[in-house]
Amino acid sequence: MPATNSARGPGAGVLPFCVDDRPGDGVFRVHSRVYTDPDLFELEQEHIFGKTWAFLGHESRLRKAGDFLSARIGNREVLVVRNTRGKVNAFLNSCRHKGAQLTRTETGNSKFLVCPYHGWAYDCDGNNIDVKDREAGCYAAAFDGDDKNLIPLRTEAYKGLIFGSLDARVPPLGEFLGELRVFLDLAMDQGEAGMELLPGRVAFRYRGNWKLQLENGTDFYHLTSTHAGFMDIMAKRRQGEGNQEARQFDWSKRLSQQGGTFQFRYGHAAVWLDQAEPEKRPIYPSIDAIARRVGESRAEWMLKVRGISVFPNMQIADGASLTLRVFRPLDVDLTEVRYYCIAPIGEAAELRAWRLRQFEDFFNVSGMATPDDAVLYEDCQRGFATQREWLQGCARGIAAHRPGGNRHSEQLRFTPLGNVQGNFDMQNETTLHPPYREWLRLLTAGLEGRAAYE
Ligand code: FES
Ligand SMILES: [Fe+2]
Repeated sequence: MPATNSARGPGAGVLPFCVDDRPGDGVFRVHSRVYTDPDLFELEQEHIFGKTWAFLGHESRLRKAGDFLSARIGNREVLVVRNTRGKVNAFLNSCRHKGAQLTRTETGNSKFLVCPYHGWAYDCDGNNIDVKDREAGCYAAAFDGDDKNLIPLRTEAYKGLIFGSLDARVPPLGEFLGELRVFLDLAMDQGEAGMELLPGRVAFRYRGNWKLQLENGTDFYHLTSTHAGFMDIMAKRRQGEGNQEARQFDWSKRLSQQGGTFQFRYGHAAVWLDQAEPEKRPIYPSIDAIARRVGESRAEWMLKVRGISVFPNMQIADGASLTLRVFRPLDVDLTEVRYYCIAPIGEAAELRAWRLRQFEDFFNVSGMATPDDAVLYEDCQRGFATQREWLQGCARGIAAHRPGGNRHSEQLRFTPLGNVQGNFDMQNETTLHPPYREWLRLLTAGLEGRAAYE
């Protein structure tokens, strides 16, 4: 039987029947209700997205004063703005007058944020600077007592990655990211002058729960079946057919590599695989310079295939191309995903083109891999409504799991909670344990009325 907990309140009764985590028995199972129960979705909004740090955007999208971008934390709209002193602020994207969203656009630049409904205006620090036609409004004195500034979020950035929290009591961002920062560095330190999100993005919605994307980002087990068509096309290109410019990888070489996974505190996880063809990476021509800057070990790891999940809403994948993915739960069975191509600032045009072709091939909505994943998420969601049972998707690799670090983490000088290593074909699923443990921990704490972080 699953472990019980002492959570109280609406929804509490179901928690012991969501995640069955018994390390001593070699059992880790998730029940299909975690993807389908609307009550759980509401609890996630309050006790997970309402409490943790969530990824909002990258500083390269906010270069000038007044640049803004819209984001979401869970199902709540957020506005991120660079002010005139260069500081990045984040607010709830909702006017204090009658709640209207201040902007519908994804990005823009404005000295002031003027509400489109009745014209109240705010500066880039969220201060209300105008209540339209206030003098003629015959307001009672009590009106002055209400705070009219936008509701601020706590905001911090790590290597240009901006995070926000709806709860000011969240631990410092550095503590929240913890040892996972090494893997963020492996992505964000590739460019000497920093990294940028390239213009544009891929965005789509699927009819499925947000945790399907959370899981897929560190799931190597699906590659040889879900993406078999992609691998076939890559093989044909190597035989001289189709788009040779993409310099795509020979996936069959990857399948014989060594790899592994790391588990981290607060729900984060990483997966890696030795790179069979480092010369096909756009950073390869500059790897010696990178090694001089970040050290041999880190440069070597920048060439490996890597994927990380930053709980609860962001992933960075560096396999087919360096990609940042953010996902936005809209409903229990509706999720929006955005993909961005990340690149070193100042990258040579030829390398940039190489990178873009790799990104498009795999990740575009018109690409050859992302649509396969999205279709499978929808198949899963339909399956969850059919099979209301414990699922068996977190079990691979449990017998190979070891607590703490290994020689690889020692090489990179970080200490994970646990690790697995072995051949590619183990394709272990233990990266799903940290996010579901954190999911259960946060929901339990919330329902018991305890602080999320103590
Ligand atoms: S809702 Fe914004 S000014 Fe009325
Ligand atoms: Fe996939």
